[in-house]
Amino acid sequence: AAMAKEKEKHKDILNVSHRGASGHAPEHTLVSYDMGEKMHGDYIEVDLQMTKDGHLIAMHDEKVDRTTDGTGDVKDMELAEVKELDAGSWFNETYPEYANEKYAGLQVPTLEEVFQKFGKNNSYYIETKSPAIYPGMEKELLRLVNKYKINKDKLLVQSFSPESLTIMHELDPSIKLVQLLSYRSYATITDEQIAEVKEYAMGIGPNHTYLNEEYIQKVVGNGLEIHPYTVNEKERMKQLIDWGVTGMFTNFPDLLHEVKKGK
Ligand code: G3P
Ligand code: CA
Repeated sequence: AAMAKEKEKHKDILNVSHRGASGHAPEHTLVSYDMGEKMHGDYIEVDLQMTKDGHLIAMHDEKVDRTTDGTGDVKDMELAEVKELDAGSWFNETYPEYANEKYAGLQVPTLEEVFQKFGKNNSYYIETKSPAIYPGMEKELLRLVNKYKINKDKLLVQSFSPESLTIMHELDPSIKLVQLLSYRSYATITDEQIAEVKEYAMGIGPNHTYLNEEYIQKVVGNGLEIHPYTVNEKERMKQLIDWGVTGMFTNFPDLLHEVKKGK
């Protein structure tokens, strides 16, 4: 029975394709998201930035410099300018072992394009990034979720900003939220912090680096989900599952899938 329980534990772990299958393909491109699905990721993780003309785009950084051939802040660029950028060639140069000529020239997708391609019944795990510099981004996110009739049971919205999550919660309390956390040393969490998060969120997403079993058990025991980021090694995945996490973000959903299958 104990063995069966262990197996069950592995099966339910949410496999979140972090920026898509971003270990294999350029992050936050439709190709990377597609690969995440094919590699058995349960959720597509999308980081959001907002252009000068108010479009939500899938990008991790506030600047386009790292993941495109352009320079500058997203907030100072119109969508048309962002659309001219090459969001794939940098990956081929940085990771020659994973390079593929089809990545060259890929575009930065808008959130609308992501919803159009992957549909209303897909599972999205969307992060409001830098919400302080993009007033109104939560409202725009919700507008698109409603416009594309995204299945809210399968939607998770995450942020490091409690303010942004609170805005989401007030706009639409039916949206499930995850509070991201970042620890720089040994992770601890108080009962008060847990109670505060539970007022609006169903889970937390801490960096995995400084977690320990006690922390994870405390969080799960208090009825919160816990999805650490970003876990790219199988041994660490196994350890975190043994400690009781309910999901995790990974650049290699294929590896987490293997772990879940007991391989
Ligand atoms: O959203 C989980 C994780 O992605 C948070 O860190 O910087 O990779 O967005 P970051
Ligand atoms: Ca993220």
